[in-house]
Amino acid sequence: CGIVGYVGSQSALDVVMAGLKRLEYRGYDSAGVAVLSDGGLAAAKKAGKLVNLEKELVERPLPAGSTGIGHTRWATHGGPTDANAHPHLDNAGRVAVVHNGIIENFAALRAELAERGHELGSETDTEVVAHLLAEEFSSCADLAEAMRLVCRRLEGAFTLVAVHADEPDVVVGARRNSPLVVGVGEGEAFLASDVAAFIAHTRSAVELGQDQVVELRRDGVTVTGFDGRPAEVRSYNVDWDADAAEKDGYDYFMLKEIAEQPKAVADTLLGRIDASGNLTLDEVRISASELREMDKVVIVACGTAFHAGLIAKYAIEHWTRIPCEVELASEFRYRDPILDAQTLVIAISQSGETMDTLMALRHAREQGAKVLAICNTNGSTIPRESDAVLYTHAGPEVAVASTKAFLTQLVACYLVALYLGQVRGTKWGDEIQDVIRDLSRIADSVERVLETMEPVRELARSLSDKNTVLFLGRHVGYPVALEGALKLKELAYMHAEGFAAGELKHGPIALIDEDLPVVVVVPSPRGRSILHDKIVSNIQEIRARGARTIVIAEEGDEAVVPYADHLIRIPATPTLLQPLVATVPLQVFACELATARGNEVDQPRNLAKSVTVE
Ligand code: G6P
Repeated sequence: CGIVGYVGSQSALDVVMAGLKRLEYRGYDSAGVAVLSDGGLAAAKKAGKLVNLEKELVERPLPAGSTGIGHTRWATHGGPTDANAHPHLDNAGRVAVVHNGIIENFAALRAELAERGHELGSETDTEVVAHLLAEEFSSCADLAEAMRLVCRRLEGAFTLVAVHADEPDVVVGARRNSPLVVGVGEGEAFLASDVAAFIAHTRSAVELGQDQVVELRRDGVTVTGFDGRPAEVRSYNVDWDADAAEKDGYDYFMLKEIAEQPKAVADTLLGRIDASGNLTLDEVRISASELREMDKVVIVACGTAFHAGLIAKYAIEHWTRIPCEVELASEFRYRDPILDAQTLVIAISQSGETMDTLMALRHAREQGAKVLAICNTNGSTIPRESDAVLYTHAGPEVAVASTKAFLTQLVACYLVALYLGQVRGTKWGDEIQDVIRDLSRIADSVERVLETMEPVRELARSLSDKNTVLFLGRHVGYPVALEGALKLKELAYMHAEGFAAGELKHGPIALIDEDLPVVVVVPSPRGRSILHDKIVSNIQEIRARGARTIVIAEEGDEAVVPYADHLIRIPATPTLLQPLVATVPLQVFACELATARGNEVDQPRNLAKSVTVE
């Protein structure tokens, strides 16, 4: 969910609504705002996207005020209805609360409140907080103190932001686990789940730590722990460009982000390979001697980031000979994984907030493993809680379906693999030097792919009435196939599956039907040509059964021509690096299919960009 709070001299409603727009990617099931005005509190909320709330505010305007809060929701407890939308108010309508996360003991608290005569109107865990805050406030008359008292009683992960009509110039926020950042301006202050909500107003930010409460006033902010003790805070300057979060003339953020990939890849490599081809990853604050001791790598991640991890395994094992496992973060800690001080855990996350990944890394650290985060969001929770971080430099990614962040995650994984090889003294053969050279040229190849995408878009449009698309790959092409299928599910709401091409004969081949579109990712015929030959046979097998073959193969690969109904060419790239170019047509394909089917590209149904619940 996305949260915004404001106190200052501007119209709180304008600031909060503009902020919510920037945060809509975090959830868009429903939205709401509350404003303090003339000793009272006024609120509006609406199911559906933010535009529904905008319309509501035109029909029934709220009174003007300069203190307010807002929320855009991704439903967990209670469906996306008007009543369940945030903010939630107490019975007297004096307190308003917005919330991100889950309050695990809410049923017990709710029963307790009902016994004391409170009437709860929604099915959400958040409403409980509004009632508890009202009770505490009635005895202490201090909203920050009331918040601290309430937070001590809550279990689970949450971010809360509240206002009270009796404290008209105060916004109070509380943070446990889920993100919350403070923006400090001249005579005004902001609170938001992400700096994107306030970078148009200020670049001066304060990061809130775990279990902290912040009180915002026009003349400054006060941060304490849940226990009331003053907390140390870290201020920083937001270096993201406000323009970078705008669409720049593209119809969708996703299109813009796909187009930004060559730059994102180049930026992520920048300054990390020196003139003699050595890697300089000084920011990875795990000593070379510790890295030499590592006897296992475990990668944890979710969604698209998990696919980056699957690809990383091939690179890490091939270049360093260290065994590497890749696991879905949501599965990891529940199976009692074997970890110790010699295990390097790599947590990959664009947002740095994904709760499943965060819980996996905490579990890993508890077992004594060292955690290296690969992350795109400066100062977010996952890098903060890791032993070291390698940032990807994709810039803000707004579209829910990940594109440029994925490519930069791959680059970061390759860099980590090569770095591990370097510090461990893996014999630097010619191959490694070649890889480093190829990696530094890869942004140009991505650019070339982007220049030749029109036939892919055309093909996508022609398939918009299909129900199923299959994706096949071998070796690193297998995770690419999984990513191609995931993109199509997320964006086009089509049944799509990725398979290891060799597994086809063990089951999935039964799915092949007349005219079924099957996308095949073909590795380079150079180098290990056995891989290439095997997949050419797979294409023949499916074509023989009537499938419509869509073949992604490198320029000059003539062997595939006779079996391809549609041929998508990508620049010649060594197999291990090929995902950086082979994924791009699949992103374009999914995006165009979604558009052709009339779907919302940037905000697919039911999805959220940062999933801050387990
Ligand atoms: C959500 C998004 C996915 C993303 C995944 C992991 O499910 O919809 O696109 O891949 O989270 O996100 P992260 O921020 O941890 O990379």
